[in-house]
Amino acid sequence: MKDREAIRSALLAWYDAQARELAWRTSPGDRRAGVRSDPYRVWLSEVMLQQTTVPHATPYFLSFTQRWPTVSDLAAVEDGDLMAAWAGLGYYARARNLLACARAVASQHGGVFPDTEEGLRALPGVGAYTAAAVAAIAFDRAANVVDGNVERVMSRLFAVETPLPDSKPELKALAGELVTEERPGDWAQALMDLGATVCKPKSPLCDRCPISTWCAAYAGGAPETYPRKTRKADRPRRHGVAYVLTRGDQMALVRRPPKGLLGGMLGLPTSDWRATPYTDAEAIAAAPAAAAWRDLGAVEHVFTHFSLTLRVFAADGANDGDFVWTSREGLGALPSVFLKAAMAGERLI
Ligand code: ADE
Repeated sequence: MKDREAIRSALLAWYDAQARELAWRTSPGDRRAGVRSDPYRVWLSEVMLQQTTVPHATPYFLSFTQRWPTVSDLAAVEDGDLMAAWAGLGYYARARNLLACARAVASQHGGVFPDTEEGLRALPGVGAYTAAAVAAIAFDRAANVVDGNVERVMSRLFAVETPLPDSKPELKALAGELVTEERPGDWAQALMDLGATVCKPKSPLCDRCPISTWCAAYAGGAPETYPRKTRKADRPRRHGVAYVLTRGDQMALVRRPPKGLLGGMLGLPTSDWRATPYTDAEAIAAAPAAAAWRDLGAVEHVFTHFSLTLRVFAADGANDGDFVWTSREGLGALPSVFLKAAMAGERLI
């Protein structure tokens, strides 16, 4: 690649001056002085950041590392405690994988993370992205770390006309050509910071970009139109009913089946989620107990593959049914969708 060294040194110099201070990050100055990142913290932050933003993940990261300072501490946690601590981060399968990985590191590797991309990739629940990110950031391996941000930066820098997702292999190959043995951890994080703070999806701040000189999309005048995308079908909508059943200051929760969406989490009892809205009569017929149900309106929640409109019905005083009765403080561990519905009924308890 013709301008590789120029691009690399411009972006690394920008990172030296502007690196974001993040709870899990070793600053470029400290890295230069020989400080190493703790692989456990790097791995934990990468898993959390795959599904949410830096501001949302940071308090979770701080609380996890305070409660469980090492991977062996995390490995010893009860599944239910981990799921409760993860509540609000979404994608609960990932929390289960997190625990499986921590336990494998603790029991099969003496609590020490493997220090190569291949070794990391062999751990349960560790995908190509996480293995590359941990190898680069924690062990300074020349791994090619490619997430959605890096794909966007590459698609602009090289004005890649092939739309996503077909362009993925090409974008990964381009990113790979920019990786060298020199400062791989800083390089990966510099690209992430550029994608997050400058080369933003909707309105890139090209006047602040350290590599705009070499950016083909910038030269073409419409950088925000990259990456090209094939039009996605709209998210389908589903409908359901959530039931807020109260007894004194407690609310009835149910443990969801281990497999499937929000598997293994506590939630409100709900009807099936289906394509058509529920009438009042259908909502009452699907209720988990016979009671004087009142209509509290509806809440909306967006999942990755569909949007959900959840009508909320409330009643009190029922005793029948197989519920986990939970006080107000216990509701904090509910997944967001149920928290929204429980809030609609919160004044009841
Ligand atoms: N997004 C994903 N991983 C990140 C990291 N290590 N630093 C900043 N943003 C990120």
